[in-house]
Amino acid sequence: MTTYTTAWKSPSNIALVKYWGKKPEGIQIPSNSSISFTLKNCATTTKLTLVEQADLEITVLLEGNQEPGFVPKIEQFLHRISGVFPFVLNGKYTVDTSNSFPHSSGIASSASGMSALALCICDIAKEKGLLAEEDFKQTASILARLGSGSASRSIYGPMGQWGEHPDYRGSSDEFAIPYTDIHSVFTDFCDTILLVHRGQKTVSSTVGHGLLKDNPYATARFAQAQENMIAMKSILKSGDLDAFIALVESEALTLHSLMMSSSPYFILMKPNTLKIIESIWAKREKDAVKWCFTLDAGANVHFLYPQADQAAAKAFIEKELAQYCENGAFIHDEVGMGAERL
Ligand code: DP6
Repeated sequence: MTTYTTAWKSPSNIALVKYWGKKPEGIQIPSNSSISFTLKNCATTTKLTLVEQADLEITVLLEGNQEPGFVPKIEQFLHRISGVFPFVLNGKYTVDTSNSFPHSSGIASSASGMSALALCICDIAKEKGLLAEEDFKQTASILARLGSGSASRSIYGPMGQWGEHPDYRGSSDEFAIPYTDIHSVFTDFCDTILLVHRGQKTVSSTVGHGLLKDNPYATARFAQAQENMIAMKSILKSGDLDAFIALVESEALTLHSLMMSSSPYFILMKPNTLKIIESIWAKREKDAVKWCFTLDAGANVHFLYPQADQAAAKAFIEKELAQYCENGAFIHDEVGMGAERL
C-alpha cells in the first residue's frame, strides 16, 4: 500500500476571447478557441494525499474544514480522467485545499481548483513512472480541461490559449498551450476584480454552456469567436490598446448576451455591474485612459488597465468603483506566470 503526497498552487485566469459552448461530441470539447490572462494572486493551493487501495474514497478539506459538498465534483473528475490514468479510481484521497481569495467571493474557483488537482495527479502519475517530464504540462492541461474547460488554460502564464485554431500553432481542443507572443504592455497587465455580488450564481457555467445547444445565435457566435481570435493575436503583439479595449469589452457583452438569448434566458449581471461599466466608460470619455472591463460568468467586473497606470487606476477604484462593490470589496491582481509546485 503506497502513499503519495504532493502539492501545487495554481492560479485563476480571465478570458479575453471567451469559451462559451461545448461541441456535442467528446467530453469538454470547446465550440470555439479562447485565450486568457493567467492571474497571479487569485490561486488555489491543493495538497493531495493518495493512499492506494481497491476502493475510491474521497475526503475534501477546504481551508482546513471538511467540505463534503465538493466530493461529487471530484469523483466525477476522477472518473473522467480514469481513461487517461486508470489508477486514479483505486485510492483513498485527502484533498486539502485553500483559496487565496475569499470563499463565496463569486470568483470562480473551478479553474484554479481543477488545475491544481490535475497537476497533483500528474505528479503521482510521474512518480509511478506513467508520465514523462516532457509530457507533464500538456497532460496536466488535458486533465484540468476534463475537470473544467477554463482550467486547461491556468497551467501556463502569462497567457493560455485553448481550442483548435489555424492561426495558433500547436493549438488543440484537448489542451491549452502557453501564449507568449505578446507586447510588453500585456506581460504585467493589471486586473482588479470588483466583487459586485458574492452569493451563489443562479445558473452555473456548466448549465450555461449547455443552453447554447438551442441558442439561435450560437453558430454565428462560434464563427465570431474564431475571427476575434485572429484579431486578438495581432492586438496582443502590437500592444494596440484601443483595439484591445474594443475587442475585450465586446467579448464580455457578447458572452452575457448569449445568456440573455438562451432558453430559458437568464441574467448574471447585477445593477452595480452596469454602474461600474458606465463609470469606466465615462472615465475613458473624460480622460482618454486606456482602461476597460471584462466579465466572466457572474456579476463581478474585471477592471483591466496597464501597470504604468496603476496609481491612477487604484485611486479611481477607491473613489468611483468601490461604492458599487459588496462591502466595498475588490481584489488587485495582475498577469502571472502560471502554476507552481510547492
Ligand atoms: C465565462 O470552464 O467554468 O469563464 O467547462 O463547464 O467547467 P466548464 O465551464 P467553465 O466555463 C468558463 C466560462 C467563462 C469563459 C472562459 O473562461 O473562457
